[in-house]
Amino acid sequence: MHILECQKLTKHFGALEALSDVDMKVRKGEVRAVIGPNGAGKSTLFNAINGVFPATRGKCFFNGKDITGMMMQDIVKFGISRTFQLTNLFPELSVIENISIASQAKLKGAWLPLGGSSVLAEAKHKAELALEKLKLTDLAYLPSNTLSHGDQRLLEIAMAISQDPLLLMLDEPTQGLSVEETQSTVDILKDLLSSGDLTVILVEHDMEVVFNLAERISVLHQGRIIADGDPEEVKASKVVQDAYLGGFEDA
Ligand SMILES: Nc1ncnc2c1ncn2[C@@H]1O[C@H](COP(=O)(O)OP(=O)(O)OP(=O)(O)O)[C@@H](O)[C@H]1O
Ligand SMILES: [Mg+2]
Repeated sequence: MHILECQKLTKHFGALEALSDVDMKVRKGEVRAVIGPNGAGKSTLFNAINGVFPATRGKCFFNGKDITGMMMQDIVKFGISRTFQLTNLFPELSVIENISIASQAKLKGAWLPLGGSSVLAEAKHKAELALEKLKLTDLAYLPSNTLSHGDQRLLEIAMAISQDPLLLMLDEPTQGLSVEETQSTVDILKDLLSSGDLTVILVEHDMEVVFNLAERISVLHQGRIIADGDPEEVKASKVVQDAYLGGFEDA
């Protein structure tokens, strides 16, 4: 059973076709990397799947349910959470407040904009659990803008995790991180994935991270999937090597 299935997903920005007929099937529990050069359409694929904007054409099914055209705040309730390529925090609020807000955004009912007091308590509880998972507990009460860039990226993952997702979508979680921060992020992600329940789609430029985490890789190039397979197949693919001009050699 596939947890996510996209069929001919297409997105136009004016005359630009940023995504073209993307077919993608992701199994439950799988860790899928989406790679491709700058401007390939990776973030656009994320945005079209999780409802930042509607796709121009095509369909997406999550757990068999048609989520095409739904908005992000509705899609999160089905169990898809994500992080953004650019850090996206409330800078003056504390670490735990940032996470509680993310959790609350999922927990609140349809009638109360922020949920009732029970929602606040539950959001805080989920925030504490997420802090533990991301090893950020010691930083809980610091303003988020005092954290290192690496910890801010982890905080964003904590915000997504606090929503108890079935599918977690990470857009370049190691962007701008030092080698040490990248390694500790990979270790934390591996811990997070060890239960095998969580499905992850990961956009990532660092090939070492990709080959370390991903079971399957989809390669986007100019809005199209040009290769799809396990890491060895993708590494060996001539079409991928051509698109990357040999960029895999360092990995
Ligand atoms: N909201 C938007 N409005 C107009 N054009 C957009 C928008 N978002 C993306 N694009 C364009 O769509 C194309 C794909 O962009 P996208 O951000 O998806 O690439 P990407 O693969 O995520 O690249 P990067 O690796 O640099 O993050 C680019 O040409 C980009 O300029
Ligand atoms: Mg991007």
